[in-house]
Amino acid sequence: MPALIQTAMKIYATIKETEDALSPYRNGKRSIGFVPTMGALHRGHLSLVTRSKSENDVTVCSIFVNPTQFNSPSDLEKYPRTIDDDMQMLASAGCDILFAPSVDEMYRKGDYSTINEDFGILDKVMEGKSRPGHFAGMLTIVNKLFCIIKPDNAYFGKKDFQQLVLIRHFVHTHHLPVIIKACPIVREDDGLAMSSRNRLLSAEERSNASIIPQTLFKIKSMWGEKTSAELKEFVKDRFNMVSPLKLDYFEIVNAETLEPVKDKASGKSAVACIAAFSGDVRLIDNISLTEQV
Ligand code: PAF
Repeated sequence: MPALIQTAMKIYATIKETEDALSPYRNGKRSIGFVPTMGALHRGHLSLVTRSKSENDVTVCSIFVNPTQFNSPSDLEKYPRTIDDDMQMLASAGCDILFAPSVDEMYRKGDYSTINEDFGILDKVMEGKSRPGHFAGMLTIVNKLFCIIKPDNAYFGKKDFQQLVLIRHFVHTHHLPVIIKACPIVREDDGLAMSSRNRLLSAEERSNASIIPQTLFKIKSMWGEKTSAELKEFVKDRFNMVSPLKLDYFEIVNAETLEPVKDKASGKSAVACIAAFSGDVRLIDNISLTEQV
């Protein structure tokens, strides 16, 4: 185990140790806040820890790079792993318990089966189209983690907007006793949404990537004057003409149903969502067109 800064943070790799550490809180009716992560932490993750600390008696984080939510072995392989830095950051942010299990601990006896449910269009559009099976894998691990930690509150970033919609749907339909807290996207100075994948970008790719948030801010300013169809054309042209990034999709959808929203008049809660490749790194981002951000 690498040297840690002076900290009270407890680190466990097994389910049993984690459950034992949490049972006094549960029995004492003290609230448990949970921040699930795949590591490679940044300020976005730390903002979730800070929020959890302000709302709960104990804050638990998990670091687990979940193999079943990756679409290819090479994507899983190249996912950044920075466990030593992550532990330092979590300890400094005041995380109380870190659960960092092995793959065998989470997928016992090599059983990698994932949730097989009908989520309607929720897991089929946007990320679902580009990354088949991703959401089944993501929900499988989130469900396992909820079973182990049994949090009162769980914190997720709005950057993974479709993930958040599916988790909310899953918690609602399965009557899981956890409150899902959606937290604001944390952005770099040039607007790029913080993401573990940003560290895979070269300096040039990183600088070009700011077209993603700039486009979203521009779309927000045009919402109301233009229809979704017109805005889609605008985004396509912008990427084709001025950017080395390759657009994967741009959609304007209802914040809960993910149905397409045609224009401002027809949709109460519209979110503009984008995915684009910078080199071979896939970046996603979104902006609410109806809420102040
Ligand atoms: O958002 C993530 O980091 C992951 O999808 C999550 C929720 C930790 C599940 O592996």
